[in-house]
Amino acid sequence: MINEKVVTAIGTPNIAFIKYWGKRDYTGLNTPNNSSISMTLDEKLSTRTSVVFSKKLNRDMLYINGSEEVMVGEKIPEKSAYLKRILDHMRRLAGVKENALIVSENSFPSSAGIASSASGAATLVFVLSNALQLDKKSREMSVIARQISGSACRSMFGGIVRWNKGMKEDGSDSYAEQAFKDTHWPELIDIIAIVDPSKKRVSSSVGHADTVKTSVLYPLRPKFAEEGIVTVEKAIAGKDIDALSKAIMRDSNNMHATMLDTWPPIMYLTDASKDIIYGIHELNDANGKRIAGYTFDAGPNAHIITTEKNRKKIMDMLSGIRGVRQTIEGHMGTGPRLLESKDSLIDEKTLTPKRVQGKMQ
Ligand code: DP6
Repeated sequence: MINEKVVTAIGTPNIAFIKYWGKRDYTGLNTPNNSSISMTLDEKLSTRTSVVFSKKLNRDMLYINGSEEVMVGEKIPEKSAYLKRILDHMRRLAGVKENALIVSENSFPSSAGIASSASGAATLVFVLSNALQLDKKSREMSVIARQISGSACRSMFGGIVRWNKGMKEDGSDSYAEQAFKDTHWPELIDIIAIVDPSKKRVSSSVGHADTVKTSVLYPLRPKFAEEGIVTVEKAIAGKDIDALSKAIMRDSNNMHATMLDTWPPIMYLTDASKDIIYGIHELNDANGKRIAGYTFDAGPNAHIITTEKNRKKIMDMLSGIRGVRQTIEGHMGTGPRLLESKDSLIDEKTLTPKRVQGKMQ
């Protein structure tokens, strides 16, 4: 029996130091060709999600950022279909039959051009697991979140998180786990430099597949990435920003090289991204040793990994680059957590979202 209470949680994105690019399975398992490692970010950028299961609901309903997503019928879009599959799966595990109302909002500045999918998927799995009283361990939840969006599995934990690629065909051993606590190196920061907020031209799901299929450089990548993880873990253990910076820059460049080698080519970096790359190398050279490293996901916005004491040098460098529109400073986060009922996005009496299309109801 479900208790019909609204449960609310908050979760955050992560930035990969050694990246996931290329899958073994494209049917929704999202098992990767290589392991990856990331830093979970704090709640400056976050997703808040409320859920309620109730007999009074005559269908499943999902609202993201104030608008309703299609969850039933023939026209269900690919991403909602995955969400629906995960919802049905978790409901089955809990032996619950009631429909769900799910309301989710991102705090990401809409102009930021930073993907919210990892944060959204991780928060959804976390809140569903709690609402359905599944009592799932974070590791098991990471296996479920991975199937919505691969990189989401790493947002199931705080601190530095490793996603082990696993070997099994069913993906059961492809899970995330915490490699270092959030308190291990709290001075480590991610300065996000927004250079282009528009939607990417090639979605990452299409990119993963095309690169594996066509890039002649790609077969070299999985081994390089696995070695990169060993280097990154050693650098983080020793709080060595010089070694960490080199490893993450090399990995980002390697991933973007396989993207460029994809046919037709995938190019996420813009001139402004490249100016930041040169800027970081010049700054590191001038310092005699590396104080920062850049990394880029499937987009042109830079994540500059550095330590708090070097913040000013990075900001001064960025202020000289014309294409930089905005900077956001991310710190080490603690992973998803439950919120109190006053923070709920659902009106418990009427079982409706508190806010639709940006308006309070
Ligand atoms: C470049 O997790 O978005 O950000 O599993 O198809 O949803 P799907 O892909 P996604 O890929 C993200 C790739 C990346 C690198 C990374 O975060 O590791």
